[in-house]
Amino acid sequence: MTTQQPSESQIAVHWREEEYYQPPSRFIGQANASDPVIIERFSEAHFPECFKEYADLLDWDTYWHTTLDTANPPFWKWFVGGRLNACYNCVDRHLAIDRNKSALIWVPEPESEQTQAITYQELYQRVNEFAALLRDFCGLNVGDRVTFHLPMVPELPVSMLSCARVGVIHSEVFGGFSGVACGDRIADSGSRVLVTMDAYHRNGELVDHKAKADEAVEAASKLGVQVDKVLVWRRYPGRSSSPTPMVAGRDFFVDELLAAFHRQRVEPVSMPAEAPLFLMYTSGTTARPKGCQHSTGGYLAYVTGTAKYYQDIHPEDTYWCMADIGWITGHSYIVYGPLSLGTTSVIYEGVPTYPDAGRPWRIAEQLGVTIFHTAPTAIRMLRKLGPDEPHKYGYRFKHMTTVGEPIEPDVWRWYFHTVGKGEAVIVDTWWQTENGGFLASTLPAVHPMKPGSCGPGVLGIYPVIYDEDRNVIEAGSGTAGNICIRNPWPGIFQTIWGQPERFVELYYSKYNTDPESKDWRDWPYLAGDGATLGADGYFRILGRIDDVINVAGHRLGTKELESAAITVAQVAEAAAVPVMDELRGRAVEIYIALKPGITSSKEIEEKVVEAIENQIGKIARPKNVWIVADMPKTRSGKIMRRVIASISNFADVGDITTLANPEIVDDIRHQVQRAKSERGEAPRELSAEELEELNAFGQSG
Ligand code: WTA
Repeated sequence: MTTQQPSESQIAVHWREEEYYQPPSRFIGQANASDPVIIERFSEAHFPECFKEYADLLDWDTYWHTTLDTANPPFWKWFVGGRLNACYNCVDRHLAIDRNKSALIWVPEPESEQTQAITYQELYQRVNEFAALLRDFCGLNVGDRVTFHLPMVPELPVSMLSCARVGVIHSEVFGGFSGVACGDRIADSGSRVLVTMDAYHRNGELVDHKAKADEAVEAASKLGVQVDKVLVWRRYPGRSSSPTPMVAGRDFFVDELLAAFHRQRVEPVSMPAEAPLFLMYTSGTTARPKGCQHSTGGYLAYVTGTAKYYQDIHPEDTYWCMADIGWITGHSYIVYGPLSLGTTSVIYEGVPTYPDAGRPWRIAEQLGVTIFHTAPTAIRMLRKLGPDEPHKYGYRFKHMTTVGEPIEPDVWRWYFHTVGKGEAVIVDTWWQTENGGFLASTLPAVHPMKPGSCGPGVLGIYPVIYDEDRNVIEAGSGTAGNICIRNPWPGIFQTIWGQPERFVELYYSKYNTDPESKDWRDWPYLAGDGATLGADGYFRILGRIDDVINVAGHRLGTKELESAAITVAQVAEAAAVPVMDELRGRAVEIYIALKPGITSSKEIEEKVVEAIENQIGKIARPKNVWIVADMPKTRSGKIMRRVIASISNFADVGDITTLANPEIVDDIRHQVQRAKSERGEAPRELSAEELEELNAFGQSG
């Protein structure tokens, strides 16, 4: 008998094995990929040439000569020598056959407002006019950056595609982010033009959005970047919906400017495959956000191919992804992938539960949606508020996607049986902002589904799980490790904008053994997630390993939260930790230590909340702020986030003997857990995966 405790990862062996679900036969018959031979076509023996199949879904002005150039690892180049235009591929090329088909159907949040269908011809017209405006009024050239801070309106894809048409790099900042967060990203990307909107509807309110533009311009200016022009789309063209005044000479209403560009045409600029198409900022280990730079040819090929095979998009489908276009999911799988395939993509302005939990199903019924795509957090919310609502509506999905967080098997089953009515296949797609498109998923007509596991690597993606010493963790061992992708793929981001060293350091240095090697096999990509691999080859994603907290599918960096908190004058130190949340997956709690001589007060707590909302946005609002006498620290002064995360979650704090101040742990525990019990934030038993996540939390900082 050994007295050694099993490690958390060994406990994982005992997770319940879920049963398989077969894809419905109605789905298989019509699927874009139903012959398993496709898996062989994309096997390692055929890498990298297998990706020709994706590239050939596009129209190229000049065909490429080299599929993958590995001369400068890990800065891979795909389809070298090729030239194309992303806007042409998403719009112009569909005109010949599908001119009068809806490219976009926009559903405003108020049910009293008419749904707007925008045909490919109309989209072509709008994109040409706005592209002319960007070029001639703003003086933008190929390679310039433009920041958008736009909500879920058709003007967002119009703006994206217009930039793509003239070779300008767009950088959309999620509309829910604060003005300050937007300003940081403007400054980082060096944008001189900001495109925004005066107002939009959210949860029954007409939100003033223009106010954030002023804050953004000011924040960027403090960081040394001056915005020359702010282009303001109006929610209701011709009338202003924001009380925030326009700044003369800087702010312009787009609908007024467009009059001068009526019926103008702009030739799509033929771009090298390697030209950057857009930046998408995301959070990581440090406070500075990372601008993930995506390419034109590789990215577009990858999202088109994966949308075709994994989402099974046919031109005649009506496809609805409920994510926000302000996140990578929306870029890849609302705009670029679906439009490149010439389908109809639905955009909904508001929140899924407005005015009630039947809204998504009414929209699906009214528009005849065939493919539906959302995140576990929305599924949990809709299940909680309207468990029987889907039955009341006559829609019929053939396919459903889930993305962004691990989905609990129980939630998966509700999605399958109730939302999908047992007729729709589900793909649980695991990937990241950095990746362009899906990394792991079942191939819907070929693989059976298993609730809670995303599936094997997708076509042409060869994942591996390594332990800390680069040993491969074998399938079926039940042990968790760091999931990596062994090979490059066309959708991978090209670099972190302006920070190439950080790109190499964060994603490749951990498992690269020879920095001089030109062989891609020596450069596994570190995804930053913990995972296990089942004996069946299906991956199960456990969560982030890099101090990112995934709140309702949004990545929040602990360092970003902490730096916002310490802008409050009385705060000396701050530590952000995740707490398990029934609906949002994880919520954030902030621990605060005050400067000497300052006493704790409700007011300071409120200031911390305000600072976070102001610096990042309402999505980052902490569930609780705990002002504590001191932080538990190691002898070298590092805050033990693992310990406070365990306290917040009522879990065992583990070994604290190596702390410099172990006595503080009990004080904090009593303080926090008593208050939580009083508030009814009762603990529930944590799963082995959740315990594992807490244990690993804060280790990288
Ligand atoms: C998590 C969203 C489990 C993961 C496309 C990843 C998931 C982070 C899944 C990326 C999934 C995404 N199952 N976890 N199907 N999909 N994640 O950059 O931790 O916003 O690293 O990209 O979300 O979030 P991001």
